[in-house]
Amino acid sequence: MEVQHKGHDGGQTETMNILLTGGAGYIGSHTCVILLEHGHHVIVLDNLCNSKAASLKRVQKITGKNILFYQKDLRNKSEVNEILKNHSIDAVIHFAGLKSVAESVDQPLRYYQNNIDGTLVLCEAMQANGVKNMVFSSSATVYGNPSTVPIKENAPVGPFNPYGRSKLFIEEILTDLYLSDKSWNIALLRYFNPVGAHPGGLIGEDPSDLPNNLMPYISQVAVGKLPQLQIYGDDYETPDGTGVRDYIHVMDLAEGHLNALEKLASDPGLVTYNLGTGKGYSVLEMVTAFEKASGKQIPYKIVGRRPGDIPTCYADPSFAEKELGWMARRGIDEVCADAWQWQYMNPKGYV
Ligand code: NAD
Ligand code: UFG
Repeated sequence: MEVQHKGHDGGQTETMNILLTGGAGYIGSHTCVILLEHGHHVIVLDNLCNSKAASLKRVQKITGKNILFYQKDLRNKSEVNEILKNHSIDAVIHFAGLKSVAESVDQPLRYYQNNIDGTLVLCEAMQANGVKNMVFSSSATVYGNPSTVPIKENAPVGPFNPYGRSKLFIEEILTDLYLSDKSWNIALLRYFNPVGAHPGGLIGEDPSDLPNNLMPYISQVAVGKLPQLQIYGDDYETPDGTGVRDYIHVMDLAEGHLNALEKLASDPGLVTYNLGTGKGYSVLEMVTAFEKASGKQIPYKIVGRRPGDIPTCYADPSFAEKELGWMARRGIDEVCADAWQWQYMNPKGYV
């Protein structure tokens, strides 16, 4: 895809103090790099329940800039309030949340408690401190099984697991908040499938257990940590029978947050954007691309479908392109090369 990053070149916004909840995690750490490289000050709040502080040390190494880090739980009202009070925060990017679909089916209360309570505490603290600019990490999972692809932002929603419903509920809470007070500026970003890593291999995705998602699983097979990939079904109505998804390079995704912040600064309101590439690739296509990038063979076995999986999901990202001047510009070869470099250089993750 072609490059288009109007916001970045023009330096349209002044330096901001940006609070990243969940900023030590996979997408948050990559977003830290982009924000720091664009001259913003970054404050991270993360309880490290699914990440390691080492990710932020690596971000500092990459950028040569400092991050202010608070190892705190987002549900702790007084501590979140203190952070907002003490740092004259201009905007919040709200990544913090639990994200495993399977775990959310087993532990729905934990998921609703963490994701929704955390958001309520954050919004109350923001309101109390007059901070009203927010970018929220939502997910394409809110669309459930789409009736048509590519998916536009106005497509019907209908997630079918507690994780997805927690995302939709939060979107609705934030919408109600905005309707009650139009001085809030909120971007709801619906990510498709974030993959890849920062080039250079210093930061990347570091699942704490067995990976749930395709790309980290393939990476761990390639590096010899796992014996073989299981492909969940080859009997879908897709060109090769395996599931089709919209794999977006995490650096493209990270850049989208900067564009969203710039948009909120110049054109306030509440708005929803799909952040995807607009292209769908099958599981087998991703395996082939990874084999090419890594020079390793990925042994796999076709097994039954995974409950809750859908055949095909990819974005229509044209609204984000039109309004944010943002487009994904890295393809699956770059995704696989960067994911492999991270995995190869860090076979045990951040340990
Ligand atoms: P991640 O688990 O790597 O990052 C989330 C971070 O939030 C972690 O560092 C975790 O420690 C922190 N956290 C969780 N609960 C917290 C709490 N109560 N207080 C403080 N910190 C807390 O996940 P990620 O892949 O970087 O995802 C970031 C966001 O994007 C999440 O909200 C996720 O639901 C959303 N999202 C992710 C994907 C994906 O496939 N990775 C897709 C769509 C949406
Ligand atoms: N897959 C396999 N084997 C695996 C893992 C996955 O064959 O070991 C297949 C799945 O069946 C699917 C495709 O690879 O066809 C992608 O699966 P992922 O688990 O990587 O991603 P999903 O599309 O299922 O879900 C992800 C996140 C969700 C998020 C959604 C949309 O896990 O949280 O993308 O953004 F909501």
